[in-house]
Amino acid sequence: MNNLNKHFEPKNFSDKVALSFTKFLRFLADTFFRKRYGHRAVVLETIAAVPGMVAGMLLHLKSLRKMEDDRGWIKTLLDEAENERMHLMTFIHVAKPTFIERMIILIAQFIFIVTYAIIYLISQRTAHRIVGYFEEEAVISYTEYLHELESGAIPDEPAPEVAINYWNLPLHATLKDVVRVIRDDEAGHRDVNHNFANVIDNRVNSKKYNEEKESASQKENTSDKEKTFSNK
Ligand SMILES: [Fe+2]
Ligand SMILES: [Fe+2]
Repeated sequence: MNNLNKHFEPKNFSDKVALSFTKFLRFLADTFFRKRYGHRAVVLETIAAVPGMVAGMLLHLKSLRKMEDDRGWIKTLLDEAENERMHLMTFIHVAKPTFIERMIILIAQFIFIVTYAIIYLISQRTAHRIVGYFEEEAVISYTEYLHELESGAIPDEPAPEVAINYWNLPLHATLKDVVRVIRDDEAGHRDVNHNFANVIDNRVNSKKYNEEKESASQKENTSDKEKTFSNK
């Protein structure tokens, strides 16, 4: 399996919730946009740029409250949000959203900020797993977009200047090159977010393990003391 087709197999209930939530949203997006990939990219990138900023802000506030180091997570998440915003700044030169799409963007942003913040506060690992799965779908969608461009079903066009500057592309780059680098970005976000969820899992598991070890050794100590007393 190459880096692009990676899929994280759900391992527990939280992963399954994250995957089902993602598949449900994918179904809505597929039904609404069908093969209008440019419009799809514009609308979905306005949503994709939300989780990194929300998660980054929540971790920033948590770091202040707990006076704890964030181990570089905040910067990574804010960079992700900025990168997603640049995807939007690029696609806005490829497709202009319709009036209905602009309305969807306004409503979806409001709903998604609130929903994602609540999910993040309830289960940080589920929130990162959701983004991991969103990004898996983003890679699939951009691969489909690329196939349409390669087959000529969607006419290729010169890359927008903003994309050439941001990704340091050659001056003669086209939309195909842009879709390829954006797809690589999405694969990167996918791995980062799945990893964040795994790191949280490992932290929880090692905390549980240490607690169990500690309570077992406490029990052992108590029973040793009892034995000493009964021998006296
Ligand atoms: Fe994106
Ligand atoms: Fe993304």
